[in-house]
Amino acid sequence: MSSRKIGTRRKIVGGNWKMNTTIDGAVDLAQEVVRRLGNTRNVEVVLCPPFPNLEAVYRVIAGTGLQLGGQNLFWEDYGAYTGEVSAPMLTAAGCEWVIVGHSERRHIMGESNEMVNRKLHAALHHDLSVMLAIGETKEERHAGAMERVLRVQLEQSLERIDAGAMDRIVIAYEPVWAIGTGETATPAQAREAHAFVRTVLGELFGQEVAEATRIQYGGSVTAANAAELMGEPEIDGALVGGASLKPDDFAEIVRAAGGGRAILG
Ligand code: PGA
Repeated sequence: MSSRKIGTRRKIVGGNWKMNTTIDGAVDLAQEVVRRLGNTRNVEVVLCPPFPNLEAVYRVIAGTGLQLGGQNLFWEDYGAYTGEVSAPMLTAAGCEWVIVGHSERRHIMGESNEMVNRKLHAALHHDLSVMLAIGETKEERHAGAMERVLRVQLEQSLERIDAGAMDRIVIAYEPVWAIGTGETATPAQAREAHAFVRTVLGELFGQEVAEATRIQYGGSVTAANAAELMGEPEIDGALVGGASLKPDDFAEIVRAAGGGRAILG
């Protein structure tokens, strides 16, 4: 029998600032987050500013309980790849994490599962942990294709990943129709999708790994709906866009992920 129980998965909340900060704003925002969450111990908190802000934000959060993440990476380490940023560059800037496969990259920049898989391997090779984003569009959901889409994204994005590496991968279930739209998945919809993701992970990596893998929910998470979503045992945290730009709201979401308990360690 598995010794790892569902209840032992530590909650993780990512703040994806997307393309919304220039350096001064990023430093201010990081300072505000540190003031509210710098001593957080019971929830992992990862800030993901735009690339040009990474080092400045790292200087603000270094030595606190907060961690730094990139929003994307390229799979080669160095070379003639104009405009791209590699895993060694992210780690040198202080990143421990990177988001891979965000729906905005899949749908606006045309990233395929195969590209996502290459990025995932590059990140792991350089000791970055990964928030791997997957999710169905509204059309896919309405066509009854949600499970098929999630399965294909998981199978292809995680190709040739060893079960032993799964403790450095967090799955972010982000229904595309809920991202930045104000239309959040209901706790029941999220529960159903997360349970399905865990089933597929079980098929790919075995039950013990599936139960230990954290699955975040993302898509219009706010201070108002976080407690209900984070109360679902299948939801192991959140990947937050818009609300991560508002320090009070973001702190409230982290608090909700921590079960509403005092968060200072
Ligand atoms: P949102 O974005 O919270 O603004 O919907 C979530 C995400 O894209 O990770």
